Amino acid sequence: MKNTHIIDIAHHLMRAYITKNDIVVDMTMGNGYDTLFLANISNFVYAFDIQKQALESTQKRLDENNINNTKLILDSHEHINQYVTQYKYVIYNLGYLPNGDKSITTTSQTTLNSLKTVLKTIEEGGIVFMVIYPGHEEGKKESDDLEDFFKTIDHRFYKVVKTHLPYQHLNPPYLVMIYKKELNKD
Ligand SMILES: C[S@@+](CC[C@H](N)C(=O)[O-])C[C@H]1O[C@@H](n2cnc3c(N)ncnc32)[C@H](O)[C@@H]1O
Repeated sequence: MKNTHIIDIAHHLMRAYITKNDIVVDMTMGNGYDTLFLANISNFVYAFDIQKQALESTQKRLDENNINNTKLILDSHEHINQYVTQYKYVIYNLGYLPNGDKSITTTSQTTLNSLKTVLKTIEEGGIVFMVIYPGHEEGKKESDDLEDFFKTIDHRFYKVVKTHLPYQHLNPPYLVMIYKKELNKD
């Protein structure tokens, strides 16, 4: 494997689940790499970011690839349900825009607020994919607060899976997948 990053592993897993029938939400659009990836494998992608720069950069990337099954939204992902209420897969690639303003980063408060909304609304059988970056100060707090929250999730209704790189130093990023169980199924 050539320098495989946790986001590549996340993409492999998304590809295994997401189909051309599915509505997907990219909660952190950034430069649009994930939005483009998701648009190619799903029916439609709603993508959020709070930075105009992210929307511009993503729109350019989508145009270059002739993609038109997306809606880019300049708003905090906390307001997801004002824009879309039916979705099966949700992706968070947390932290700050690479090559952007590092002070504009996802935070515990907004990530958790939005995650609580998503877990209630996401379709049964759906999955939330979260790539979490504890290697910077705000990211460490966000990771700690998310871990505290994961412990409180009702395991009768959700399954939490964690994929991490245990032999790497310096708090490497890791992936958490939260499955919403289908009621009346195991
Ligand atoms: C690591 S980057 C995402 C990378 C991106 N998925 C890509 O493929 O390039 C994280 C992004 O989250 C955005 N962000 C921070 N807080 C947010 C919020 N409350 N709602 C939506 N986006 C937010 C930042 O502006 C930043 O662009």
